[in-house]
Formats: sequence, C-alpha cells, structure tokens
Amino acid sequence: MSKTIIISNRLPLQIKIEEDEISVSQSVGGLATGMKSVHEDGDSLWIGWSGLTEEEITDTTRDKVQKEIEKNKCAMVPLSEDDVDHFYYGFSNKTLWPLFHYFMEYTTFEQENWESYKRVNQKFADVVLDHVEDGDTIWVHDYQLLLLPNYIKQKKPDTNIGFFLHIPFPSYEVFRTFPWREEVLEGMLGADLIGFHTYDYERHFLSCVRRLIHLETNFNEISYDDRIIKVDSFPMGIDYDKFYNAALAHENMNGDEKSDIQKRLDEHLYSSDDAKMILSIDRLDYTKGIPNRIKAFEYFLEKYPEYQQKVRLIMLAVPSRSNVPQYQLLKRETDELVGRINGKFSTVSWTPVWYFYRSLPFDNLIDLYTSCDVAMITPIRDGMNLVAKEYVATRVKQDGVLVLSEMAGASKEMNEALLINPNNFEAIADKLKQALEMPKEEQKERITSMQARLKRYSVEKWAEEFFTALNTSKTVRNTIVSKKLTPALGDEIIEKYSSAKRRLVFLDYDGTLVGFNTNPQEAKPDEELYNLLDALYAQPDTDVILISGRDKETFTKWYGDKDYTMITEHGVWLKEPEEDWRILENVRKEWMPKLRPILETFVDRTPGTFIEEKNFSLAWHFRKVDPELASQRAVELKTVLNSLIANHHLSVLEGNKVIEIKSGNVNKGRAASRMLTRKDYDFVFAIGDDWTDEYMFRDLPDTAVTVKVGLQKTVAKYFVQNTKEVRKLLKRFADAPIEV
Ligand code: ADP
Ligand code: G6P
Repeated sequence: MSKTIIISNRLPLQIKIEEDEISVSQSVGGLATGMKSVHEDGDSLWIGWSGLTEEEITDTTRDKVQKEIEKNKCAMVPLSEDDVDHFYYGFSNKTLWPLFHYFMEYTTFEQENWESYKRVNQKFADVVLDHVEDGDTIWVHDYQLLLLPNYIKQKKPDTNIGFFLHIPFPSYEVFRTFPWREEVLEGMLGADLIGFHTYDYERHFLSCVRRLIHLETNFNEISYDDRIIKVDSFPMGIDYDKFYNAALAHENMNGDEKSDIQKRLDEHLYSSDDAKMILSIDRLDYTKGIPNRIKAFEYFLEKYPEYQQKVRLIMLAVPSRSNVPQYQLLKRETDELVGRINGKFSTVSWTPVWYFYRSLPFDNLIDLYTSCDVAMITPIRDGMNLVAKEYVATRVKQDGVLVLSEMAGASKEMNEALLINPNNFEAIADKLKQALEMPKEEQKERITSMQARLKRYSVEKWAEEFFTALNTSKTVRNTIVSKKLTPALGDEIIEKYSSAKRRLVFLDYDGTLVGFNTNPQEAKPDEELYNLLDALYAQPDTDVILISGRDKETFTKWYGDKDYTMITEHGVWLKEPEEDWRILENVRKEWMPKLRPILETFVDRTPGTFIEEKNFSLAWHFRKVDPELASQRAVELKTVLNSLIANHHLSVLEGNKVIEIKSGNVNKGRAASRMLTRKDYDFVFAIGDDWTDEYMFRDLPDTAVTVKVGLQKTVAKYFVQNTKEVRKLLKRFADAPIEV
C-alpha cells in the first residue's frame, strides 16, 4: 500500500544517551509539533535526524536507538559531528535561517558549510531512496532540506513530491545576495508542489524564480522542463482539539492534581483582585524579539505605573541552537535584561518578570496558556508562530487577549488579535494596556471568531489541503507528459524520416538549437552545433532550413562559409546554397522611422531594454529587465502600437521577451508553406520554442511532425524539454540510415 514519507531535519522525537541509556523527549518547534499529529494519524514514515551524532551512538546503544526510532514510525539519517557543525549549525542556522528572516548582519556565507549542506541533503536523499516505493507521496519540510526535492526527483521522476517551507521566504532584494541562490531555487523546484505559510512568501519566491532563473510563471504555476510546478500558500494550523481538550481537562482539575508551576501561578493570581499575568513563550531565538519584548514591558511599567505590583510577565524561553554564537549572545542579553528590570521594579512581594529558560512538558505549557490573561507574542520576523494559535485554542472560557506582531505569518489570519509592530514600544505599551483593560464581552468576541477559524483550519485540514493540491498537480503533469516526445515516439519519427523519399526539416535557432541568452550576440553556434548542422545538411534528399527571426547579417556572420538554406526575419529573406540572399516577401519599410521614436520612449523609460532594427522589422527586447516591470511595459507598448498600426498592414508579434513590429503578411508559417510547395516532400519536420514558431506548426500539413521546445501551450504535436534534447534528437536524424 502506498504511504506518505515525511522528511524533515528533526524527527518528532529527540534521543539522548547517558551512560549507555537512552532518553527520549519531544522536539520543540512548529514543524515538529504540527506535523506530529499528521504523522500519528496517517500511514506514514518520518525520515530525519535523531538528534544524536554517529560518534555518540555506540555498539551497545545502536539497537536501542533503532528500536525507539522504529517504534515511532521513523527512519534515521545518520549525521556525523562534522555534519552537525557545518550543515546544521553552519549552513542551516548561520546562513539560511538569518538570511530568510532578514537578519542579514548575522548571515555568514561559508563555502565549507555549503559543501556540507549539499552532502547532507544527499544523505537524506539516500535514505529516502532506500524507503520509497512506487505510488508513495513524499513531503519534504523546511529550510534545512532545500536541495532534497531535486535530488529525489532526479532519481525518481515519477514520484510526487511536495515541499513546505516553515519560515519566511525573503524578498528578492534579500535573496539575491545569497551566493548559491540558483542552486537552491533549482533544488526546491524538484518538488511538484511548493507550499508557504502566507501569500507574501509565495510571491517573493515566484519573483525570485522569474528574476534569477528566468522561468516563466503563470499565476502560481511555474513551467520547468517538462513539468508544471504549483506554488501556493497553506497557513499551517494546530491540533486544535488536543489543545482545547487539554485546557478543558485542566479546568476541571482538582487541587492535588495541580503541578508546582500551576500552584505558583495561582499564588500570584490570588494575591490580589487585579493581579494579571502576561505570557510569552518561544524558543530562545533572535527572530522572536525577546529583548524588544522585555524592553517594551519595561516601558509599559514606566508609562503606566499603576500596573506595577499587579502585572507579571511570565516568560518561557526554550533553549535552542546554543552552539551558534548569536544565540549565546541573545541568552546573555536576555538574562541581563530580565535581571535589570527585576532589579529596578521588584518589591518584597512582586517580581515583574518570571523567566524560565528550559523546555517544559506539554501539561505545563497548558498551565501557562490557561493561566495568563494576555499572550504577548512579538517576533521581529516569524514564518507562522503556532504559540499564538495554541494560546487562543486553550481559552475555553473565551476570555484572554492576544497581542501579536504583524511580522508573524499568523497575523495574516488573526485579525482579531491586537496587532503591533514589534519595534514600536509606544504602541506595544498602549496595546498591552488595552489588552489588560479589554471588557470581557470584547475578549469573547475576538477569541470566539479566532477559535472558530483555528478549529476549522486545523493542522489536519492544512495537511489534507496540501495533499489534495499535490495530487492535483500530479494530474496536470500527467496530461502534459502525454505529449512528450518519448523514446518510443522518437523511434517512430526516425523510422518515418529514414524511409521517406524526400525530407524537409525546419529548425528554429534561439531557444531551440541554442539556449536562450540574455545577450543575443552571445548565443553563437558552438562547435558541436556546427558539426551537427553539417551532418544534417549532408543527408541526401533532405532539405534542412534554419528558420529564424534573426537578421540576415548575423546569420551571414555565423554561417557565411556554409552552404546552409536559411530563412531570416521570420520569412523576409531566403538564402540558398551558392546563392545570395533574396527577398521572399514584398515588404515595406517606410513605417520604420515613424514607429522607432515610440519604441525609443519605451527604452528610455525601461532601462535594460533595447531596440533591434532588422531590415524590415523593429524589435523591442526586454529580456534583461525586471520581469514585472517588463510585462507591465509590454502590455502598454502593445496597446500603443495596436492603436497606431491599424490600416497599415503591420502586425505586432510577441516572441520570447521581445515585441516585434513587422509587415503584416510575414511570418514563419507563410515562409514554411512556401518552401513546402517547391518539392514533393513525404516527411516534414519543424521544431521551435516560441510563439513565432506556432505559425509554422499551424500552417504545416497535419502529417508534419511538429515539436515544441519547453512546456508551454502549443499547437505542436510533441514537446521536448530543452535544447539538449533537441540536439539529441537531431543527432539521431543526422545518423539515420537513408536509402538512396
Ligand atoms: P518555532 O517553530 O519558530 O519554534 P512556533 O511558535 O511556530 O515557533 O512553534 C513552537 C512550538 O513549540 C509550539 O507548537 C509550542 O507548543 C512548542 N513549544 C514551545 N515551547 C515549548 C516547550 N517549552 N516545551 C515543549 N514544546 C514547546
Ligand atoms: C523552526 C524551524 C524548524 C525547526 C524548529 C526548531 O520551527 O522551522 O525547522 O525544527 O524551529 O529548531 P531546531 O534547530 O532545534 O530544529
């Protein structure tokens, strides 16, 4: 039976070894806590790191560790001390984590760590490949494994792979500073579905894909090789019932069942009628804004002194990544700040901040959630923040107020919280006051609507929606793959080619024989291509025609000493062996000086664009421009041109990052049809990548073999993925035996 394979750096359980005995604890962090319930309920295998290095596991403990892992439906990726240093502390937590959270000043770029990151992602891939079976669905999680989807896809192209990023995806301006940006994007694009918590992260990712690896995106879909990758936002939820029911049980608990922590909390609550508690829970991480929060609380106590001796901040900071220097500094800063404030305000019966630096069991978390009147969650940057959601879920009496940072992904869904900018102490102090004084009725209204949403969009629902989208993306892929030029179809085509009496072959140039280059002059033919073309042109009873939008001067420069048949400017010029270029279409050019100034105004306003003046057409190229600006300007230019060219027998063509104005009756379809009528061909083949080639595909007879390069809408019969595939196919043509 097919299963789901969940893969994340950390397994939901963490194992420690002391004196040959193992102890197991639950992992903290949103990913592990959230996915845990998905894993428990489903038929799944979770692959990840146990928290132990290979060096720590001895012969005597290996079996015990293995048993514990298997008991939890998990499989282990063995990480050495060196891996943990360079991959986990190094690249994951000194490079990706700070960069993706906009802490550029904390970000280091170390080649050695990058090498380790690649190696460890490959280690994960190896374990996945050991366990994956046909029909399984793979779900990769988070920033530690950005390369993994592609590593798996390379080996198992038919497996459906989902990827979810649990942290923010930064804007292009930040992401572009990252030295290995292309590799990382390509790594993620191994997935069939890529999920983010919010639409902002999704749009940042799409923008980076467009700008950095120049892929076409259509709304939230990316065409990449022979696949369509879907990108979407799925705000992660919590196991609502688990938190709600635990809080209900807590409510009904009698005195002796109470934990020590609860007893201490009660002491404060019962100390006076207006005693209140404010809760703060996070991993001790600089993204969480802990120092800011303490300072804002200090500012609050100063601004509203009437709250002194009444309100207490209960602050739980869970130790995290303590080998990374920034976390050590943060620990010191937090200790000092708490010390300072407690020193400044404490009285015999009151300390303003209760600070716990440790991990607490679930029941104690519930003690804290249920006892505090206000939760103050103020990260500087946070992918989602589940603590905010958990606090709301435990408010079984529908009271309590959530003060939440706008910079947390959760703020997008929790509008009823009091939203604050974590850097604005003034506003935080005022919102805290508002929270503490909020009438019960209003608290109820806000909590009730947030609870309704959290209950509806629980973590189970979140996972379900992700899987549904992943299965749909599989269907999209399959319908498109049915047109793919498979090896079997390739054999059939070669067979027809070989057995025909007269062959006609049309070859587009840019994007077909050579890759798309941002500088057109650099897309010159290479040695391999010359050899391939020479071999093709040498085939008996075969007419090969290079058919391109290029001008004849460029082709003369590149192929001047060859006897190739060539058509340029989409069908204006024809060059045949041992002849000069001649005009194929009767075209006018008196319009060119009139329209050129209009294109020039677009060049002035859109830096990076340029005009190419061919003999009978004008082209405005925008391949080097920011894709969003380019598409906006392209629409503008087309509107302007369409109004000007009416009644002038001109047409506006949109190619790959180019808009071209030309005489109305010229296109590759007309040119190709004209060549077709010159002899009695019984095999016709055309291959091209862009919109201008569609004329050719459309106008050639139904019996023609038409092939599109890349996965886009086309009238061609087949498609191949890229220029490499094109050359492979043409090489088979060149080598095919032909009976003379
Ligand atoms: P992050 O993923 O950055 O750590 P989140 O707020 O999204 O932040 O998730 C934190 C998760 O860790 C929550 O599900 C919370 O219940 C859990 N957690 C926080 N503190 C503790 C703790 N002391 N012990 C156990 N689990 C904790
Ligand atoms: C965040 C990340 C998780 C990570 C967790 C705990 O939630 O998104 O991927 O597991 O923090 O961090 P740690 O470094 O201890 O795994």
